[in-house]
Amino acid sequence: MIRRAPHVIPYQGSKRKLAANILTFMNFDIECFYEPFAGSAAITLAAAANNKAKHYVISDKLETLSDLWEMIIHHPQKLIEEYYALWHGQLTDPAEFYKQVRDGYNKTQSPSALLYLVARCVKNAVRFNNEGEFNQGPDNRRLGLKPEKLMKEVHAVSKMLKHKTDIKRGDFRKVLKSCTANDCVYMDPPWQGTSGKRDQRYAHILNMDELIEGLDSLNERNIPFLLSFDGTCGDRTYGSELPGELRLVKVSLNAGRSSQATLLGRDEVTIESLYLSPALAKKNKTKAEIKHSQKELFESI
Ligand SMILES: C[S@@+](CC[C@H](N)C(=O)[O-])C[C@H]1O[C@@H](n2cnc3c(N)ncnc32)[C@H](O)[C@@H]1O
Repeated sequence: MIRRAPHVIPYQGSKRKLAANILTFMNFDIECFYEPFAGSAAITLAAAANNKAKHYVISDKLETLSDLWEMIIHHPQKLIEEYYALWHGQLTDPAEFYKQVRDGYNKTQSPSALLYLVARCVKNAVRFNNEGEFNQGPDNRRLGLKPEKLMKEVHAVSKMLKHKTDIKRGDFRKVLKSCTANDCVYMDPPWQGTSGKRDQRYAHILNMDELIEGLDSLNERNIPFLLSFDGTCGDRTYGSELPGELRLVKVSLNAGRSSQATLLGRDEVTIESLYLSPALAKKNKTKAEIKHSQKELFESI
């Protein structure tokens, strides 16, 4: 049974629902847990709530997101006050106010404005244009996460992570230079698919070569890591195969019913792949035991 983690950023791509499953592969001593593609840092929050590591590193290439994490953990009261002002400021004319905050955010990159926009935008699904500007519209049916709820969650996260967390910024390969074989890394990268079309869900995306280079370097240094990468929904597959030379063990996780498919009248389950590095698979269990726990995960859902 894992303890519920507090949760601050209501981000559509969050791995919150899979956190309990992912944590079952982290049953070994971890000096420092790294989440270099943090987003809403769902796995760090779950890991910390369950005392999986002594220290944590939260990092993202989107600098404002790292600034937001800095505020959540080290300046919670300031963040709560700024969010409170934004949330109440919208009450007279929510749609116009949202537009003003979005324009302001694109000029100043204020972390509290980013939180407000994520909480208020359509499906909590961020979108960026080619210039890296936030361009998602508001969800006009709701006002976004209430300040009272935010206050409770922010204080809980700050208390939990304050004395044991470093916030970093930049490309994951730079951030992971400091990690060692006693640490553990969880990665959920936005990779550039083969279509060549820019993925608007992210301000920054990776190409496959950059990702493989980063994974290869972690393997060379014997660093245990977990990687969320591809998956299937119904008969559709997303993501692509990773090279065999990386010697990763693939585990399939049941991410539940797809709300998008349900909206379209299809009853489909999303299966997400989690890849375990050779060093992590060794620390954990044999391949046969991993297969067994995978079976249990499926049966528990
Ligand atoms: C799929 S989201 C991660 C979601 C996260 N697992 C969660 O639970 O919320 C990927 C994140 O990686 C960041 N990113 C993109 N390219 C990066 C890079 N080269 N290095 C580090 N972070 C990057 C994006 O800004 C985005 O926040």
